[in-house]
Amino acid sequence: MSDKPTVLVTGGAGYIGSHAVLALKDAGYGVVVIDNLVTGFDWAVPDGVPLVRGDIADQPLVEATLRAHDVKAIMHFAGSVVVPESVDNPLKYYHNNSAKTRDLIESAVRVGVPHFIFSSTAATYGTPDVEAVREDTPQQPINPYGMSKLMTEYMLRDVAAAHPMNFCALRYFNVAGADPQGRTGQSTAGATHLIKVAVEAALGKRESVAIFGTDFDTPDGTGVRDYIHVSDLAAAHLLALEALMAEPDRNHLLNCGYGRGFSVLEVLDAVDRATNMPVKRVMTGRRAGDPGKLISDNGAILKTFPWTPRHADLDQIVAHALAWERKLGER
Ligand code: UD1
Repeated sequence: MSDKPTVLVTGGAGYIGSHAVLALKDAGYGVVVIDNLVTGFDWAVPDGVPLVRGDIADQPLVEATLRAHDVKAIMHFAGSVVVPESVDNPLKYYHNNSAKTRDLIESAVRVGVPHFIFSSTAATYGTPDVEAVREDTPQQPINPYGMSKLMTEYMLRDVAAAHPMNFCALRYFNVAGADPQGRTGQSTAGATHLIKVAVEAALGKRESVAIFGTDFDTPDGTGVRDYIHVSDLAAAHLLALEALMAEPDRNHLLNCGYGRGFSVLEVLDAVDRATNMPVKRVMTGRRAGDPGKLISDNGAILKTFPWTPRHADLDQIVAHALAWERKLGER
């Protein structure tokens, strides 16, 4: 028996959540997943990990789960993540991401769960006019997705001040890739994220990749992003958990990225290299709400946690995404 506590992972059947579940399990933690399986998959939850099928705002269900498993921390991934959809349907985002999270946090407070780790996002910064975004760069979201996540950061700050709970909000930059061992990956259909879209096109699941804008103020005119491997991100969550347990009076708000960016064209070149075949590219106009460049300053997380990224390599990120996409095709 491990002496490590049990963690509730919301959205543990989804893309990033399923990687966190593997990381926790590999490290010897107890894990229980709650997921409504709207975008997640029951098969993404590994054997031996209980899956509670339900909603994070179902307080009787959540509280019974927290008590039954003696949960000591919550990693909260469940939510809606498509930026353009949030512009068309903001109330869905304020409901799924802000209101339901409020109910989840209330359940955690009621049961006395001492630690909370939250998936925040670089989208809380909006379009910052800086080379690299620091945690103290003003947060001015330009879409409801970013705003819905920023509201949760505020809730956690206030709740942690009023109740015996500490929290860590990790502001993810662009998460991509898949488990290096091929156990899970990004599986949801209709993805909008560049690397997912590009590997689908490389495998003939799509005709082409649209390049959203070639007139940004970037070296090649296409959007630049800080792509981070999902397994390095999952590892950061474990370090966050250890930090919260070690210092119960301290909260953390930290960027999670590699501190360097790649353009859309550089990403597509990497996909072409991986398959030795060019993906068809179609130049289109800008997508509403896209900043030209978003790169993290990751000095704070490197200073605060003993975080050593292991997959900070675009070709590796693409190779893992491609391997998972091939595997999905065989399912
Ligand atoms: C956005 C959020 C990010 C969030 C993620 C979740 C912002 C600034 N960032 O990332 O915080 O975690 O969504 O959904 O809101 N692109 C193309 N063609 C495509 C797809 C994308 O050219 O088919 C370009 C985009 O214009 C952008 C880059 O590729 O420059 C990355 O886009 P995407 O993968 O969709 O992520 P973000 O919008 O950066």
